[in-house]
Amino acid sequence: MPSDANALLIAATGEDPVPYRDALRAHMPDLEIHAEGEAYDPATIGYSLVWQPAPGLMASLPNLKAIFSMGAGIDHILADPALPAEVPIVRLMHDKTREQMRDYVLHAVLHYYRQMDVAAAQQAEGAWRFLQIRDKAALPVGFLGMGEMGRAAATALAGLGFTVMGWSRSPKDIPGVECHSGAEGLAAMLARTRFLISVLPATPDTVGLLDAALFAQLPRGAVVVNLGRGNHLVAGDLLAALDSGQVGAATLDVFDPEPVPADSPFWTHPGVRLTPHIGSDGNAAICGEAVSENIRRMSAGGAPAPLGDRARGY
Ligand code: GLV
Repeated sequence: MPSDANALLIAATGEDPVPYRDALRAHMPDLEIHAEGEAYDPATIGYSLVWQPAPGLMASLPNLKAIFSMGAGIDHILADPALPAEVPIVRLMHDKTREQMRDYVLHAVLHYYRQMDVAAAQQAEGAWRFLQIRDKAALPVGFLGMGEMGRAAATALAGLGFTVMGWSRSPKDIPGVECHSGAEGLAAMLARTRFLISVLPATPDTVGLLDAALFAQLPRGAVVVNLGRGNHLVAGDLLAALDSGQVGAATLDVFDPEPVPADSPFWTHPGVRLTPHIGSDGNAAICGEAVSENIRRMSAGGAPAPLGDRARGY
């Protein structure tokens, strides 16, 4: 039994491991922690904290008991073809990451609802033109994805007086949110959506979902906000929909690939606001708290949470 392998390996592509180590130490001073690249005995590693771990690395740890994701998504872990089959994958879910995502969505919706984009364009041309305030209840917000992230943002917008709809794979019942599921539910929601917010996870079903056919189902001039994954979006279809006016504007936080290449039209298109994957940030302090809590739970014989589902992909 691998029960006495209790060290933790930080394997985070593109991240400095030091703040993560410090944050974990603050909660668990006795935890033995290694970072990828340092010398360690693979047999001592019981836990790993990862972002885009190198393919094969997890399989090289024979006594691994849990793989902790540095994000809500687990697609960056499932991408490893050699991933050991039985090790639980734990998503990062914390009140603070839900709050971060909620705040981003609130900012984006309020920005367009209050026509700050139009005001900025007017300022650039030195034009003083009054902008009438529209009735927010008549500008429905539609969410793609009603998991932990979508739910927090949707509920907050409903609390502000917006009409909020949410679409998810399986039927949901969320107070204040008109819930839809399935293909028919998607069409019904899109037909009324003025602000479309995607917070979907990356699964084979969601790749390319934000395409010309979907944009065509939105009322003309709807706004698209993508906070899920870059590969949900067919970039050329969005640019064409922006150019034709079918989509009025877009805020994009996730891309395929990241970073966005220097010659991508997303950098300069007047209808696009681009942010560098900042919707939520499972930073060191948040990971330290969530991961140490799970390790304590596991040491006491419990199961870590929330578990990612390999078959579902999130
Ligand atoms: C970030 O993209 C995450 O998966 O939380």
